[in-house]
Amino acid sequence: MANREDFSHALLLFCSLGIFFLQTEAAVKMYQFNIQLRNVSRLCHAKPIVTVNGMFPGPTVYAREGDRVLVNVTNYAQYNMSIHWHGLKQYRNGWADGPAYITQCPIKTGNSYVYDINITGQRGTLWWHAHIFWLRATVYGAIVIMPKQRTPFPFPQPDREDNILLGEWWNNDVEEVVRQGNKLGLPPNMSDAHTINGKPGPLFPCSEKHTFVMEVEQRKTYLLRIVNAALNDELFFAIAGHNLTVVEIDAVYTKPFTTHAILIAPGQTTNVLVQANQVPSRYFMAARAFMDAPLSIDNKTAAAILQYKGIPNTVVPILPQLPAPNDTAFALSYNAKLRSLNSPQFPANVPLKVDRHLFYTAGLGMNSCPTCLNGTRLTASLNNITFVMPQVGLLQAHYFSIKGVFTTDFPDRPPLAFNYTSAPLTANLGTVLGTRLSKIAFNSTVELVLQDTNLLTVESHPFHLHGYNFFVVGTGVGNFNTSKDPAKFNLVDPPERNTVGVPTGGWTAIRFRADNPGVWFMHCHLELHTSWGLKTAFVVENGKGADQSILPPPKDLPSC
Ligand SMILES: *[C@@H]1O[C@H](CO)[C@@H](O)[C@H](O)[C@H]1NC(C)=O
Ligand SMILES: *[C@@H]1O[C@H](CO)[C@@H](O)[C@H](O)[C@H]1NC(C)=O
Ligand SMILES: *[C@@H]1O[C@H](CO)[C@@H](O)[C@H](O)[C@H]1NC(C)=O
Ligand SMILES: *[C@@H]1O[C@H](CO)[C@@H](O)[C@H](O)[C@H]1NC(C)=O
Ligand SMILES: *[C@@H]1O[C@H](CO)[C@@H](O)[C@H](O)[C@H]1NC(C)=O
Ligand SMILES: *[C@@H]1O[C@H](CO)[C@@H](O)[C@H](O)[C@H]1NC(C)=O
Ligand SMILES: *[C@@H]1O[C@H](CO)[C@@H](O)[C@H](O)[C@H]1NC(C)=O
Ligand SMILES: *[C@@H]1O[C@H](CO)[C@@H](O)[C@H](O)[C@H]1NC(C)=O
Ligand SMILES: *[C@@H]1O[C@H](CO)[C@@H](O)[C@H](O)[C@H]1NC(C)=O
Ligand SMILES: *[C@@H]1O[C@H](CO)[C@@H](O)[C@H](O)[C@H]1NC(C)=O
Ligand SMILES: *[C@@H]1O[C@H](CO)[C@@H](O)[C@H](O)[C@H]1NC(C)=O
Ligand SMILES: *[C@@H]1O[C@H](CO)[C@@H](O)[C@H](O)[C@H]1NC(C)=O
Repeated sequence: MANREDFSHALLLFCSLGIFFLQTEAAVKMYQFNIQLRNVSRLCHAKPIVTVNGMFPGPTVYAREGDRVLVNVTNYAQYNMSIHWHGLKQYRNGWADGPAYITQCPIKTGNSYVYDINITGQRGTLWWHAHIFWLRATVYGAIVIMPKQRTPFPFPQPDREDNILLGEWWNNDVEEVVRQGNKLGLPPNMSDAHTINGKPGPLFPCSEKHTFVMEVEQRKTYLLRIVNAALNDELFFAIAGHNLTVVEIDAVYTKPFTTHAILIAPGQTTNVLVQANQVPSRYFMAARAFMDAPLSIDNKTAAAILQYKGIPNTVVPILPQLPAPNDTAFALSYNAKLRSLNSPQFPANVPLKVDRHLFYTAGLGMNSCPTCLNGTRLTASLNNITFVMPQVGLLQAHYFSIKGVFTTDFPDRPPLAFNYTSAPLTANLGTVLGTRLSKIAFNSTVELVLQDTNLLTVESHPFHLHGYNFFVVGTGVGNFNTSKDPAKFNLVDPPERNTVGVPTGGWTAIRFRADNPGVWFMHCHLELHTSWGLKTAFVVENGKGADQSILPPPKDLPSC
C-alpha cells in the first residue's frame, strides 16, 4: 500500500515533469477530504462556504487506470454530506457512488466514510461533487485518470495540461436561496456569477484579483480538462484567437475535431488541445450560458486569461466570440460532431440488439401549495411521476430487502401518449408522487428515449446516469418517431458518455448494457430540476456468476 508521503512525492513529480507519474504499476492512492467551512470573498461579498480541505474548487484526485483510490471523507461542517464520483462506474460497488439517500445515508457532522474505488477500464477527465441538496455549488473538484503506463494518448502528446472547472457563484448562502425558492414555490434566485476555477473574472465587480490566469509558451500544446460544475447552466466556452481540438468527452476518447467554441452541459467533461500559436499577448477565455428555452436569459460571462510568457499584465485582453445565448443551431451542430474514437484499442461496443425499450417524458408542472406565493409550487416529473426522496438509502433497502422504501413499478412509457412538444401545453396535468424505480435484468441491453415536453415550457435537460456510460445513438427536435427515427441511429461510432443533453423540445436516445448490478440514480443534472423531482433510479439485478452480484457494504457505511 502506498503511503501518503509517496503519494505527495508522486504529485510533486507530476507538477514538475508535466503530465507523467513515475509510477510503474497499479497502486493505491489515498486522499483525506475534510469537509469544512472557509470564508471566501467574491463579487464584493464575503461569506463562509462549504469546502474540501479549505480549497475552492476542491483538490484534484489524480490516479491511473487500474488504481484503487481510497478517499476518507471527514465531515467537519454543519451539513450532512455525501460525495459523488461523477462518471466512475463503481462496478458492483454502488456503496462508493455517493448520491445521498440513493446509495448511502449522508455522512453526519463529526463522522467519516472511506470511499473505496477501483478505477477499471476508464481513463480521462471526470469530477467529484457533493450529492446532497445544492451543496455541490462549492464542493467540487476534478478527477484526472492517466492511461495505463506505456499507453500513450491516441492524440499528439501535449506539452502541459490544466484543469478548467466552470461553476456558478451565489452571493448569498446557497441553501438559504433554495429554502426561499421552495417556500415561495418559485425557482430560487439565479446565481450572481459564473466562474472559471472558482473565479468570476474581471467582467464582474471586485473581481480583478479573482481572475484565473493560465500562462502559456509560444509553440507549445496544452491539454485543457474542462468540467462543467455549474448547477443550472449549459455553457459555451471559447478562447479568443485560438481553436480548440476536442479529443475526449466524459473520459472517453473521441474522433478529434476543431472548433472555435465548445458546448458543455452540467456534469459533462471535455478535453481539448490548444496550440499556443498566436501572436504572444493576453487572450480571454470565456464561458456563458446556452439557453434557448423561452425563459429569461442569463448572459453573465465568466472570463479567465490565457497569457503568453513574458507579456505584461497591462496588455488588455480581447474577448472570444461566443455563440449567442439562444444559438440552437450551433448547439445541435456541435453535438452532431461528437463521435467515439472507435479504434481497435478503444472500440465502441454499441448494443445492436435491444432487450428493453424505455420511453421517458420529462415535464415541468405546478402542484397546489396554499402557503406558496402563487398558491402553487413548481415541480418536475418523468413519465408523470415526481420522485420522492426516501429516508434511507435505496441501495441498502435493496441489498437488505427492507420493505416499503421503494417500488419497482416505474412505467416503461408515459401513462398517456400526447403531442409532447406541441404549442404550449399550459394545462396543469398534475403529477403522481412516488419513489418508483425500474427493475432491469442483469446484462440486458436497454434503449431509453428521453423526450422533452412542452408542459409549462420546453427546456433542455442534461440527464446523468450513475454506474454506466451509455451510447447516444440518436437525437432530434420535436417528438420521437418510433417508426422513422431508429433507422437514422448511429450504431457505429456514437458518442459514449455519462451525461447527455436532451434538446429543448426534442429527444435523445441512449443505449447501454446493464452489466453493473446495483441501484443507479438517473436524473436531470440541472439542480433546479432534480430538486423538483426530475429523477428516478434503476435497480439492476444481480447476475448468476460469482462476480456478478453487488459487493457487501463496507463496515463504515453511514447509517440514517
Ligand atoms: C468567517 O468570518 C466570520 C466573520 O468575520 C468569523 O466570525 C468566522 O469565524 C469566520 N469563519 C471561518 C471558518 O473562518
Ligand atoms: C478518516 O479521517 C478521520 C479524521 O482524520 C480519522 O479519525 C479516521 O481514522 C480516518 N479513517 C481512516 C480509515 O483512515
Ligand atoms: C442530518 O441527518 C440527521 C439524521 O439523519 C438529522 O437528524 C439532522 O437533522 C440532519 N442535519 C441537517 C443539518 O440536515
Ligand atoms: C477492487 O478490485 C480488487 C481486485 O480485483 C477486488 O479484490 C476488490 O474487491 C475491489 N474492490 C472494490 C471496492 O470494488
Ligand atoms: C433573491 O433575490 C431577491 C431579488 O433580488 C432578493 O430580494 C432576495 O433577498 C434574494 N434572496 C436570497 C435568499 O438571496
Ligand atoms: C480555426 O479553425 C478555422 C476552421 O478550421 C480556421 O478557418 C481558422 O483559421 C482557425 N483559426 C486559428 C486561430 O487557428
Ligand atoms: C446582458 O443582458 C443585459 C440586459 O439584456 C444587457 O444590458 C447586457 O449588456 C448583457 N450583457 C452581456 C455581457 O451581454
Ligand atoms: C436570439 O436572441 C436575439 C437577441 O435577443 C434575437 O434577436 C434573435 O431573434 C434570437 N434568435 C432566435 C433564433 O430565437
Ligand atoms: C407568480 O406570481 C407573480 C406575481 O403575481 C407572477 O409575476 C409570476 O409570473 C407567477 N409565477 C408563476 C410561476 O406562476
Ligand atoms: C403536434 O403539435 C405540433 C405543433 O403544435 C403540430 O405541428 C403537429 O402537427 C402536432 N402533431 C400531431 C401528431 O398532432
Ligand atoms: C398524471 O397523473 C395525474 C394524477 O394521477 C393525472 O391526473 C394526470 O392526468 C396524469 N397526466 C398525464 C399526462 O398522464
Ligand atoms: C453479457 O452478454 C454479452 C452478450 O451476450 C456477453 O458477451 C457477455 O459475456 C455477458 N456479460 C456478462 C458479464 O455476463
